[in-house]
Amino acid sequence: MGIVVLTMKASVIEMFLVLLVTGIHSNKEMTKKIKRPKFTVPQINCDVKAGKIINPEFVVKCPAGCQDPKYHVYGTDIYASYSSVCAAAVHSGVLDNSGGRILVRKVAGQSGYKGSYANGVQSSSLPRWRESFVVSEGKPQKGVTYPSTLTYSSAKSPAAKAGETTTAYQKPSSVPGTTAQPVTLTQAPRTTPVEGTPTTLPKPSPSVDSTATSSPRPQPAGHRSQEPDLGSTITYPSSKNSPCANPGDTDLWKPGMVLLDAGFVPREELSTQSLDPMFQGDPNCKVDLSFLIDGSASIGKRRFRIQKQFLADIAQALDIGPAGPLMGVVQYGDNPATQFNLKTHMNSRDLKTAIEKITQRGGLSNVGRAISFVTKSFFSKANGNRGGAPNVAVVMVDGWPTDKVEEASRLARESGINIFFITIEGAVENEKQYVTEPNFANKAACRTNGFYSLSVQSWFSLHKTVQPLVKRICDTERLACSKTCFNSADIGFVIDGSSSVGTGNFRTVLQFVANLSKEFEISETDTRIGAVQYTYEQRLEFGFDTYSTKADILNAIKTVGYWSGGTSTGAAINFALEQLFKKSKPNKRKLMILLTDGRSYDDIRIPAMAAHHKGVITYAIGIVWAAQDELEVIATHPAKDHAFFVDEFDNLYKLVPTVIQNICTEFNSRPRN
Ligand SMILES: *[C@@H]1O[C@H](CO)[C@@H](O)[C@H](O)[C@H]1NC(C)=O
Repeated sequence: MGIVVLTMKASVIEMFLVLLVTGIHSNKEMTKKIKRPKFTVPQINCDVKAGKIINPEFVVKCPAGCQDPKYHVYGTDIYASYSSVCAAAVHSGVLDNSGGRILVRKVAGQSGYKGSYANGVQSSSLPRWRESFVVSEGKPQKGVTYPSTLTYSSAKSPAAKAGETTTAYQKPSSVPGTTAQPVTLTQAPRTTPVEGTPTTLPKPSPSVDSTATSSPRPQPAGHRSQEPDLGSTITYPSSKNSPCANPGDTDLWKPGMVLLDAGFVPREELSTQSLDPMFQGDPNCKVDLSFLIDGSASIGKRRFRIQKQFLADIAQALDIGPAGPLMGVVQYGDNPATQFNLKTHMNSRDLKTAIEKITQRGGLSNVGRAISFVTKSFFSKANGNRGGAPNVAVVMVDGWPTDKVEEASRLARESGINIFFITIEGAVENEKQYVTEPNFANKAACRTNGFYSLSVQSWFSLHKTVQPLVKRICDTERLACSKTCFNSADIGFVIDGSSSVGTGNFRTVLQFVANLSKEFEISETDTRIGAVQYTYEQRLEFGFDTYSTKADILNAIKTVGYWSGGTSTGAAINFALEQLFKKSKPNKRKLMILLTDGRSYDDIRIPAMAAHHKGVITYAIGIVWAAQDELEVIATHPAKDHAFFVDEFDNLYKLVPTVIQNICTEFNSRPRN
């Protein structure tokens, strides 16, 4: 026992000596700095994320203005290193918006970062990240010397200006302690671990292959197709292995998560899959696309080949890639089958090769069944649905379907899928008697202005459809916020009718409700609107199934009578859940828009939780005396997208575009299942 301890001690001392020696000899810069009695505090910009800085502990100076919402923060107290260092400092209360010095210390990655609103900064939650950091006041601790220059993980870092060391993303040095880590001798034993020195992202080489699955690797261009499935291979390197694996800030990522098998991952993780911008795809056409191709026996070999050529042309024209459109293919006959899903082939070239290899299945032409299949299982996160992109299904039909499609299409649309129909060589007059559902394409696609349905006379002229179709598929704004049917929701307004509002302002509130309602297509199958007014008591003004035309809804809103009384917002939420949303259809998105001008007399927490729990996306709109903290509790997370405040009733109109925009975005960011 004693001997073991002794040898261990000896080896520790030996190692320490090695560190000292190599530290001194290998870096003259470093020794120079050590002699300097006072260190200069390095400065960073608001947008610098902690993950970009390799140093495990440092003091930095932040500029003013870092509480701007464009600098994203993830977590509370402990922040994911994907966060802006300075904005996190403001969030934690260490810094105010005028900037200043802070002390930053890296800690291990976590699972379950909680978002919160604090000190004027809304932080988001994040399921997991590989590394975290904590911030405290910028008072250097005794006996610790902090780096005067920071080491960045990528030479491209915007803050890596002259005079700052840029290393990493290079071969890791084989001798611990020789990396460009400005540490002092007194600090060395504490912050320079012998193993797993936080230095660089290991370069892919045969020797590190044992860890290959745990660190996203840079890829040689043009080899992405050989990369195994994204979702199943990316795991999360612990901070010990790779505290700085944060290559290249591509700015592709928007607040919104990419969905992978492994969970929610910010887009940036994905971008390491392909460093070549050539294969990123067209960013102006970010859609998740499913092509349903006709493999029925009646189509014949020759037409099936034309169909494949058409698919390949589309794949070419779309410029497929992780930052652009993704495309999967389902072939139907008697039954549908996925040929490949959204993430199987993530560039046009690979996709075209795969399309070439598709073989015909034969059987009937069960289009309805195929659409149900796509609604139920194709657009799952496991299949590569990104959540942030509109879902589009293009259905190719040779002649006519052998089953019913209207109902299946309606359900698909209600769950947020944009359906396009391309009918080729449809039934001519004397064939119409065979068609199961006459006029199926018009019934199945969104109420027709022709946008969602194309009819092609002959398979031999199909190629002319490539450009028009691509143009429509890439009209993402229209798809994301389509008034025709994408916004299929049940929207329940909960309107404060308390005495403080007053008759005139109550009219303004109703106008606001009407202006929001106008933006939606109103019908049984599109959006339905209901309204509740509350004071101490609650009153159902009209339910989701009371009216089914826009004119009727607008008229009903106009004629709501002002009640006047107290403000029991909590009871009103419960009432709306019971009287409105309980009668909502399972496929419909449920949205509650609550308007109030003051603090509630009763508890809102439990009713709000019940609403969130029941999947009711809740917007809280406060006017004049409304309590910010209550709005944030009522609103669905993140509050910055769902809670709004205006200081007077006359400013309410300004919120209309924002609320509409957020509702549309939400449709895209909540994939089914
Ligand atoms: C509603 O829309 C009308 C017409 O665009 C506008 O004049 C009015 O200010 C809006 N009111 C509210 C409260 O949104």
